[in-house]
Amino acid sequence: MTDVAVAGGGLVGLAVAWRAARRGLSVTVVDDAPGAGASAAAAGMLAPVTEAGYREEPLLRLGLDSLARWPAFAAELEAAAGTPVGLRTAGTLVVGFDEDDVRELDALHAFQRELGLAAHRLTPREARRREPALATRVRGGLLVEGDHSVDGRAVHAALLAAAEAAGVVLVRDRVAEVVTDGGRAGGLRLASRVLPADRVVLALGARSGQLPGVPPLPVRPVKGQVLRLAGAAGLLEGTVRALVRGRQVYLVPYGGDRLVVGATSEDRGFDARVTAGGVHDLLHDAIDVVPEVGELELTETLARWRPGTPDNAPLLGPSSLPGLVLATGHHRNGVLLTPVTAEATAELLATGELPEVAAPFTADRFERSPVWS
Ligand code: GLY
Repeated sequence: MTDVAVAGGGLVGLAVAWRAARRGLSVTVVDDAPGAGASAAAAGMLAPVTEAGYREEPLLRLGLDSLARWPAFAAELEAAAGTPVGLRTAGTLVVGFDEDDVRELDALHAFQRELGLAAHRLTPREARRREPALATRVRGGLLVEGDHSVDGRAVHAALLAAAEAAGVVLVRDRVAEVVTDGGRAGGLRLASRVLPADRVVLALGARSGQLPGVPPLPVRPVKGQVLRLAGAAGLLEGTVRALVRGRQVYLVPYGGDRLVVGATSEDRGFDARVTAGGVHDLLHDAIDVVPEVGELELTETLARWRPGTPDNAPLLGPSSLPGLVLATGHHRNGVLLTPVTAEATAELLATGELPEVAAPFTADRFERSPVWS
């Protein structure tokens, strides 16, 4: 019997496990391919301001809280694992490609100022001074110095090592069901056996709502196609996000000479195909904004699923099934929200109290607001 069984060994599941083990709990993580889901595709942006959407202020506050935790989280993780996680604090530049895109940029800037967020409007010349690789056609920029990034795959590798060092047991098996016992979660049924547990944490990303034994959850897959390229040493100072004829693209440098270009956002269920159109649009827009992208080596294309929710915010804390704790539904912000999710969930598991910062994100908010149901 383990104190906590975590279903899902992606960034969120492992971080919850690591933090819970550090609180003295015995923890077992189950995943047949840890890190092969959305964690493998994530560009690693820590970008609450440039991801902020209209009417998403609670999510913005959670994101800012988690961003503030990242430097200490990264330092502790690097010390525990002995490997770097690639935290970059160079900031994020959002650019507009044509006049309509710049009007959209101005609307975004007005929204950010209304919320009291730090963002500076740049002329095309100022934008190119910051990022000399930008195309001369770029019509304007918005600098958000506080939006950073990490290397998501490096974070996952470090979490595997740190969790193991903290005593977490990783079982490479398929999670088949949440087992109930006397009206509460009593463990996980795996492909090969039952793992009894005092509590279960659900961290299965986009598949969280599909696991037998889990009460109905409003989590759906939102497909994202992503490209990885090599040969980008010195190309960009920090993340570049762009509006290109109404479409969005981002370019995130990492690991010395690597670049992630993302991402499509498609409601197509669990469609795993990388499509010609998806790759075309991402490359076309990225090359329009940073022409040298056309000279880089395309090393990887992949499609994964964000765990989408009706309000784009995560599902945290207790569920309607006693003993089942939620750490899912992170949609576009899984990497950003990893520290706050891990620390709030570990606090709940260790003390029975969900910290105030996570309280607005319990799943019963959808019952309270019928507009989402
Ligand atoms: N966080 C960026 C994305 O989900 O594409």
